[in-house]
Amino acid sequence: MLPHRSDFPTGFLFGAATSAYQIEGHAAGGAGRTHWDDFAATPGNVAGAENGAIACDHLHRLDEDLDLLKAAGFDVYRFSTSWARVLPEGRGTVNTQGLDFYERLVDGLLERGIKPAATLYHWELPSTLSDLGGWRNRDIANWFADYTDVIMSRIGDRIWSAAPINEPWCVSWLSHFEGAHAPGLRDIRATARAMHHVLLAHGRATQVMRGLGMKNLGAVCNMEFAAPANTSDGAREAARVQDAIYNHFFLSGITKGCYPEEVLNGMEAHLPEGWQNDFDIITQPIDWIGLNYYTRKLYDAAPTVENHPAPWPATVEVEGPLPKTAMNWEVYPQGLSHFLTMMQRDYTGDLPIYVTENGMAGMSELSGDPLSDPDRIAYLSDHLAEVQGALDQGVPVKGYFVWSLLDNYEWAMGYAPRFGLIHVDWATLNRYPKASFSAIREALNS
Ligand code: FCB
Repeated sequence: MLPHRSDFPTGFLFGAATSAYQIEGHAAGGAGRTHWDDFAATPGNVAGAENGAIACDHLHRLDEDLDLLKAAGFDVYRFSTSWARVLPEGRGTVNTQGLDFYERLVDGLLERGIKPAATLYHWELPSTLSDLGGWRNRDIANWFADYTDVIMSRIGDRIWSAAPINEPWCVSWLSHFEGAHAPGLRDIRATARAMHHVLLAHGRATQVMRGLGMKNLGAVCNMEFAAPANTSDGAREAARVQDAIYNHFFLSGITKGCYPEEVLNGMEAHLPEGWQNDFDIITQPIDWIGLNYYTRKLYDAAPTVENHPAPWPATVEVEGPLPKTAMNWEVYPQGLSHFLTMMQRDYTGDLPIYVTENGMAGMSELSGDPLSDPDRIAYLSDHLAEVQGALDQGVPVKGYFVWSLLDNYEWAMGYAPRFGLIHVDWATLNRYPKASFSAIREALNS
């Protein structure tokens, strides 16, 4: 059972989230090639070398999907606009079909009484810009500002809220240090530059949107609870460094105009020259902050090999004991209230906080009835209880978005993990609401 809407403060918003490349079908409608297409075409990067060429074919099933959002009773829909769909070469020529599509999306939401919450970048960097160094190149902040101007000049007047970038940690660290996402680099200098430039781009896009008169602008960070794998000092230190890189660096940059010491210890030498002078742009005032939360990870000190100490940050991930989802992610609801209270206490004070993503890839649907997902209902219910706990402590949480409306392209894991409230049959692309969809509908409608 999910808690009912009436168990939350009046005006608390419930939404569903998706992203462009994961659902639209990027081969259609004149979109340009993205670094995810390149990454997926490299052997070993993505399960089955799958890409987002067709995905959920949302581009051609827009009305059906918006009707489903409406049927569930959602107040708000968090979607993203694809840079490569709007500007296939990243700069210059505009794909008018792309602008038309996003306009139909926004108008379709408004017609159904649903608030449009836009994200400008959910990872589909045009390949042409990747060729120029992508997030490593400082110019990306201005390229991104120009793209922001193009798309928001068309739809910005009807957008309820906007955030420039989804999950700076994934855009930079996961993609440039761990090599797990496009562009698949493992390079500390590239990472440091990407970490800084992604925030610079956030600031520039925010300036552009303010200039267009838009309101309700925010930032979306993902966080993972970082716990020591054991009681040793090494494990405690590993968890502390990991926590700083993952959960504090970006929030600190955006809200305080500085980076944590623990991260600078390893990264400062690799940051672009003059990085300290960019904080007036990075700390543009924002109206809300978004938290994407899924799991926790355990860390230990990386072992010394043949007397060579492991390079910074010298941490290793250790498998945890808790029940796991189909992503092999531990289910740890307590982390959600931990981060909500930490954010308010240490960074954002009275600023409204939204849980902009939370959800799970089901295990139950892998075996047996694909529409029966009791584990998802339990996951959502346990995490909503943590939101209620944070509200009770006075944290200004104003809304919660389920990831995701539909099963979709789960990046490096391809189409196997299913995060949706709605099952997508990958052979026919037909949509089938799961039990969790009905549970949401009951919780949201009186
Ligand atoms: C988040 C991403 C989203 C999805 C979920 C499972 O990090 O924002 O696109 O992949 O994880």
